[in-house]
Amino acid sequence: MARGAGFLGSRWAILGGAMSWVSERNLVAALSEAGAFGVLACGAMEPPRLAEEIAATQALTDKPFGVNLITMHPRLEALVQVCLDAKVGHIVFAGGIPPGPAIRKAKDAGARVICFAPALALAKKLVRSGADALVIEGSEAGGHIGPVSLNVLAQEILPHIRDVPVFVAGGIGRGEAILSYLEMGAAGAQIGTRFVCASECVAHANFKRAFIRGAARDALPTVQLDESFPVIPVRALQNAGTKRFLEHQAEVIRRFRAGELTKEAAQLDIEHFWAGALRRAVVDGDVENGSLMAGQSVGMVAREEPVAAILAEIMAQAAAAIAARGPARP
Ligand SMILES: Cc1cc2nc3c(=O)[nH]c(=O)nc-3n(C[C@H](O)[C@H](O)[C@H](O)COP(=O)(O)O)c2cc1C
Repeated sequence: MARGAGFLGSRWAILGGAMSWVSERNLVAALSEAGAFGVLACGAMEPPRLAEEIAATQALTDKPFGVNLITMHPRLEALVQVCLDAKVGHIVFAGGIPPGPAIRKAKDAGARVICFAPALALAKKLVRSGADALVIEGSEAGGHIGPVSLNVLAQEILPHIRDVPVFVAGGIGRGEAILSYLEMGAAGAQIGTRFVCASECVAHANFKRAFIRGAARDALPTVQLDESFPVIPVRALQNAGTKRFLEHQAEVIRRFRAGELTKEAAQLDIEHFWAGALRRAVVDGDVENGSLMAGQSVGMVAREEPVAAILAEIMAQAAAAIAARGPARP
């Protein structure tokens, strides 16, 4: 883990994957204090709100942490400036390929840039564009996902990207799994779902309870009903909202076919269904109608416990796996 930890400035090369509404000051500071690398989720925050959240996190920890910015945010460059003004050392660009000027602005000011690489060709392009590290996130992950599993992405990308550290994400719940990816060439891992039930995490008790009850097979990607009306795949625990989403798509498509809605209006209507839904679940505790974004690793979330205990367990599993091999043979 030395390369990844050196890059992040943390004790262990484990990033707390940014989770909108979940990864705020308390969880992020707790992760960094406990030896991992917390990452604040900017989500849809406006620049002044992000500045406030960064300052509040810095008040809780003097350890390094990063900020995750969504590339389609209309004020992306202003958000980068907020991070730079606050001397945030690492900016994670998520949700698409970041525009060149945003990468350059961050790097010119000395920040390190971390990008998501969904395929080998894009990984190489991102490194050429200045990415200082990459995250490869498999479809096992919670939230917005690509189509390829981490198992396959790791085999496709890790042997070919050696110039920058690569962190693996998606479905990671135990230390043995991290160890195996390190052996394939990863520099560390990014974990989201397993930290949702950290005692320090402010998510609503109902949200945490759903994670403790949830099994891997309950965390499914959104279902798209009609190929003319694309739906962005999001992995989440199934609830009344996911069932209603299917009915909603069917109804909107029926109205489009009946000439009651234009194609654009129908597409927008489908896209708007989940607006604000993650907040409703995480903050308000509406686990029936809100979005319960969760990775397949949700089955390995057993109880609420401090971040330090979760990290200690994961690192002990990795260490035990190494010890079980016995002394190295000459
Ligand atoms: C509730 C939730 C919200 C998330 N929000 C974001 C986000 O705002 N930005 C982002 O880049 N990734 C987001 N993710 C993905 C995580 O950062 C991380 O990559 C993912 O959770 C890793 O997979 P795992 O959950 O199986 O550990 C989210 C994941 C979850 C579960």
